[in-house]
Amino acid sequence: MAGAPRRVVVGVSGATGTALAVRTLQLLGAAGVERHLVVSPAARRTAAYEMPDASFDAEVVHNFRDIGASIASGSYPVDAMIVIPCSVKTLGAIAAGVSENLLVRAADVTLKERRRLVLCVRETPLHLGHLRAMVTATEIGAIIAPPMPAFYAAPESLDDVVDHIVARALSLIGVTVPGAPPWQGEPASVARRQSDAEIRSQGGTTR
Ligand SMILES: Cc1cc2nc3c(=O)[nH]c(=O)nc-3n(C[C@H](O)[C@H](O)[C@H](O)COP(=O)(O)O)c2cc1C
Repeated sequence: MAGAPRRVVVGVSGATGTALAVRTLQLLGAAGVERHLVVSPAARRTAAYEMPDASFDAEVVHNFRDIGASIASGSYPVDAMIVIPCSVKTLGAIAAGVSENLLVRAADVTLKERRRLVLCVRETPLHLGHLRAMVTATEIGAIIAPPMPAFYAAPESLDDVVDHIVARALSLIGVTVPGAPPWQGEPASVARRQSDAEIRSQGGTTR
């Protein structure tokens, strides 16, 4: 993928994690990206449960059933697509190429046009069918990026966890989020403490 994307499709499916979708849209908007949004009925139901006041901001909001929408065609220029959160049902449909709604169709188009597709699959635990669908999706070109917290980032709130997950996911489509710099390596003080502890655990002495 060359450079930062100008137009991105955001798919929101019915896995838990409405806050991830809301933040993704906010950060894409702040980055000046044109956002095309598709929200599944199950995602709206989950949102009503998790964040009743959530607003999904986008330049273009597509109807989930409109398989004739612009983003259903590969001739419509789009730079990338992210599905966040991605249910295992939507994962399975994408892996199988079963484009029975606009979200899956847009993902299928993204893959056939060899564009970047990021699937933030949220489910646990996973059975073999889920894992196989992830393998298939990867084989056909998608990136599986489950929304997982990074404890080393020392989050102080759920918002911090959400921000970190979304920044990592957006980095996969070439969007850099201000305030989310890449990991620069362990601070020297931590590395030194660790190395001293290792030496002591092996019976050695440190300065
Ligand atoms: C509150 C709530 C939380 C859910 N969480 C998950 C989840 O984390 N992962 C998942 O795969 N499905 C989850 N589901 C089930 C999906 O919403 C359901 O399988 C739905 O059919 C997915 O449809 P979609 O992929 O078209 O959005 C959840 C449903 C509800 C109501």
